[in-house]
Amino acid sequence: MQVEEAKKHAKSPKEAVEAIKAITNILPDVAIVLGSGVSALTDLIDSQTISFQDIFGVSPTVAGHAGSVSVGKLAQNKNVNVAVFRGRFHVYEGHDWSVVTLPTRLIHAWGVKELIVTNAAGGINQSFNVGDLMLLSGFRDFISEKARQDIVEELKKSPEPCQSELSKQILQVSKNLCEQTKEFRPLAQGVYAGFTGPSYETLAEIAVALKLECDAVGMSTVPELLTAKELGLSAAAISVITNVWKEDVSIHGHEEVLEASKAASKRLDMLFSSLLANKK
Ligand code: HPA
Repeated sequence: MQVEEAKKHAKSPKEAVEAIKAITNILPDVAIVLGSGVSALTDLIDSQTISFQDIFGVSPTVAGHAGSVSVGKLAQNKNVNVAVFRGRFHVYEGHDWSVVTLPTRLIHAWGVKELIVTNAAGGINQSFNVGDLMLLSGFRDFISEKARQDIVEELKKSPEPCQSELSKQILQVSKNLCEQTKEFRPLAQGVYAGFTGPSYETLAEIAVALKLECDAVGMSTVPELLTAKELGLSAAAISVITNVWKEDVSIHGHEEVLEASKAASKRLDMLFSSLLANKK
């Protein structure tokens, strides 16, 4: 489907809820959105997988994004239902803001209480390593129409904070995991700058992000977090740092991003499993 067609075919949040409820009567407690090549929670039990096409009337167009939702439980805790969204819609695909934010609006309209958003991002904080997981302490919007139309106003603002109860729980779970196993690296924390893409940031954009004390850059997540705030949905976000920007080091492409995501995905899986195992 052409991206211009997508808006015409996209369902409303209410229609999307009707579509998903026609397939599963499970109401998830938590929704988790997985970004580029980020794979976690692949072994849900009693699960059903539904394509984005069937829910939203639209599919993502990016490699590494399957475009499906799995609804199920963790074997370790059958009291908690989770919906795992594999893939998302991006502004750089040409999608309208209403399409990019449709999954978040569906999650809210469905009655899900908590949202965790993940993404692949480039580290600009020089203390970061490839494969680090960064819990967002805040974000900067270079993506929304409003921010792009009035970038000077946007630059004057402080970063939008991400300090939900959910973020605190994630931090606590990561601390416990660090004590329990050497396999888990401490969670980094930082500010995420969301640019439109689809190409990686220019040096000028990196310079601006560094000046604004951002720690990582990417092309997603900001629409979800702005929408969650608008709807009063509790949200947290985690970046998988798939590359770290250094002077004189060549820029990596999508293949390497997918590779680095895989190694970090294992730690992300541990984090989510432990978080969900301790809920309720
Ligand atoms: N920039 C933007 N998006 C990304 C990057 C990056 O460096 N790495 C992975 N996704």
